[in-house]
Amino acid sequence: MALHRLTSFTLQVPNPQDVISYYEEFGLTDNGDGSLSTMDGGRQLYVEQVAPGAFRRISSFTVGCDDEDDLGRIAANLRRLQVECSIDGGRLVTVDPGTGTEVVVAPEERVRQEPFKPADANYPGNLQRLDARAAGAVLEERVRPRKLGHIVLGTPDAADSTKFLSEGIGFKVSDRVGFGAFMRCSQDHHNVLVMNAPMVYPHHTSWQVEDVDAVGRGAMDMLEDDPGRHVWGLGRHYAGSNFFWYLKDPAGNFSEYYSDMDCIIDDSLWDPESVEGARGLFRWGPPPPPSMINPEDVAAHMVGAHSS
Ligand SMILES: [Fe+2]
Repeated sequence: MALHRLTSFTLQVPNPQDVISYYEEFGLTDNGDGSLSTMDGGRQLYVEQVAPGAFRRISSFTVGCDDEDDLGRIAANLRRLQVECSIDGGRLVTVDPGTGTEVVVAPEERVRQEPFKPADANYPGNLQRLDARAAGAVLEERVRPRKLGHIVLGTPDAADSTKFLSEGIGFKVSDRVGFGAFMRCSQDHHNVLVMNAPMVYPHHTSWQVEDVDAVGRGAMDMLEDDPGRHVWGLGRHYAGSNFFWYLKDPAGNFSEYYSDMDCIIDDSLWDPESVEGARGLFRWGPPPPPSMINPEDVAAHMVGAHSS
């Protein structure tokens, strides 16, 4: 695959310093220049001040490819879709017509991760951890995300974004749901999902941690500091299979800890599904709160838009 990673994104909010502090507590490293890094992915989050009166937004995201030859092919695909782009300094820059988000494609090193050794666990008839407490029960240090996994955007024009990303940029569709398509630009099941929504806004960003214990421990540490951050979890998705727990940052963006996502290395062995009903949201977990589907500030903004 010529595309191989979701490199980074820029989040614009009315309260950048609060948001930077939140993501530092979430486990990212604050570089002191408006950017934050993950353990394995480097600088992946850039936080900026949103323009006065504008809604919180993801203004830009960057996709990593192997080399500059990939850019010419993407430019030709975009021309066919009648979407403008420019190639300058080894970067292709264009705009997603469905969300207005700037999309940059640029050659990047592939993310290389040290193999994580899973903790010994006990199963029926297969006891691996004897005479010892589980690591997940005794670990105390804060969770630190290994890499950015995916971003999810809402828009009234999700189909336009999906076409732009799949036929133009070269994302592959892993599964479809009623509200959009899970698309990948790496081996991970999804890196971007653009879903139908009443307005353009960032729904959530998702960050990889080691295992389900890290998902639970990370979320509980965040809630101990501020219980009002809880949105939805712990659960397991069907599309992508990942464990999840969603929290809310001080600007209203949801941030997800995830682990154990499906990984697709041979496209011919993966059957994209049209996932129906509740499975489009999850396989198990607590029922999703209404604010998960329709975040409170988005709902309030729409009421204001209709009444003014
Ligand atoms: Fe997610």
